[in-house]
Amino acid sequence: MDRIRIRGGKRLEGTIPISGAKNASLPLMAAGLLTEDTLSLSNLPHLADIVTMANLLVQHGVSMEMNGHAEGGHGGRVISLSAANITNTQAPYDLVRKMRASVLVLGPLLARCGEAVVSLPGGCAIGTRPVDLHLKGLEALGVEIELEEGYIKAHAPNGLKGAHVVFPMVSVGATENLMMAASLAEGETVLTNAAREPEVSDLAHCLVAMGAQIEGIGSDTLTITGVPRLGGAIYSVVPDRIETGTYAMAVAITGGEVELTGTRMDLIESVTEVLLRAGLEMSETESGVLVRRSGDRVKGVDVMTEPFPGFPTDLQAQMMAVMSCAEGASMITETIFENRFMHVPELSRMGANVHVHGASAIVRGSPHLTGAEVMATDLRASVSLVLAGLAAEGETIINRVYHLDRGYERLEEKLAACGADITRLKD
Ligand code: UD1
Repeated sequence: MDRIRIRGGKRLEGTIPISGAKNASLPLMAAGLLTEDTLSLSNLPHLADIVTMANLLVQHGVSMEMNGHAEGGHGGRVISLSAANITNTQAPYDLVRKMRASVLVLGPLLARCGEAVVSLPGGCAIGTRPVDLHLKGLEALGVEIELEEGYIKAHAPNGLKGAHVVFPMVSVGATENLMMAASLAEGETVLTNAAREPEVSDLAHCLVAMGAQIEGIGSDTLTITGVPRLGGAIYSVVPDRIETGTYAMAVAITGGEVELTGTRMDLIESVTEVLLRAGLEMSETESGVLVRRSGDRVKGVDVMTEPFPGFPTDLQAQMMAVMSCAEGASMITETIFENRFMHVPELSRMGANVHVHGASAIVRGSPHLTGAEVMATDLRASVSLVLAGLAAEGETIINRVYHLDRGYERLEEKLAACGADITRLKD
């Protein structure tokens, strides 16, 4: 398995192009199942999770063409999906267990074919992560669901009917599944307490481009009036706000000046607010966001993860790496996932001073972290170790690089281009 080696202590100077958002691309690809016409998605990132979703769609009978190069910069990579004939409505365990977002085919398959059999995703490194909200919402739309032998067996004998769904908690995936299903249901569906993440809005805008009727995009109440059919569209994926925040934090931890291009400040307002308080300089430019740390270390600030527009849980581990090197202390509270401090023991091996108390972690900043051999359990935890390695004295080796490849396109290339001493060691 590949590893990443970092020799820390270099300031970052230069430009980093931000890719299209992984978490927008996956539901957008699933939306390809909703129409027999072609859906073309540009600005698609080149990532392992995208390949997993492509494999899942192919086995449902979707034909696809991939054009352009990831290296071509923004809009370089385009996928055209055509689900003229859905030949199989089953999503097997082998693919779903690789990636939880596979469950996003459930709504579209039900809407288009009236039935679907999807493996239950099961647990993952950051918690139990059930799909009960997806299933309850679909039941309200008239879907009959049985859980058997680890599979969700769903069918809609009388078609999907619009309904009022009130989510007891905010769920990105459940909002996306319901929005896709409701687009082809009979009548009006109202989703209350819907997720407002930019990736949810991106999906909504794409569905509208395909002919769906959705009101309230960007708010917590979505009203969807079902239409008999959706058509094709050409759509560009929103920039990745988590990748944007991650590289802004890389500058916070190393110092230097980097322009993040192809991204937008409005996607990361809560993150910017926290980083500005910590002493980072951030400003909007014509092509993206300029991030600068001219002084010494950033200052400790408190952070709590929340659904959008709050601080994203997907940046919590990276923020902890930054706070580990800050001046002063910080309290980091995780409210979305119950088990998302798996990076703490590894950061501690690099000299971070972190104490976890329930859902909160007290981080006391140290002037120096030291390089170590580390491994991580999930995508964002792995990248937090990369950030720590960029600041640490000496050499850091990161194992299980496949986690990074799920969510960060050409990570080592992008950082090396700004002066980081980072190399992928091939096995
Ligand atoms: C998405 C993102 C993930 C991010 C998360 C929260 C994708 C592909 N993934 O995941 O990177 O960390 O949003 O911003 O977009 N829950 C239930 N029942 C359900 C569904 C969720 O209890 O049926 C709980 C989860 O366990 C969690 C919380 O709701 O505690 C939020 O999860 P959710 O927003 O659904 O996350 P995902 O859509 O899986």
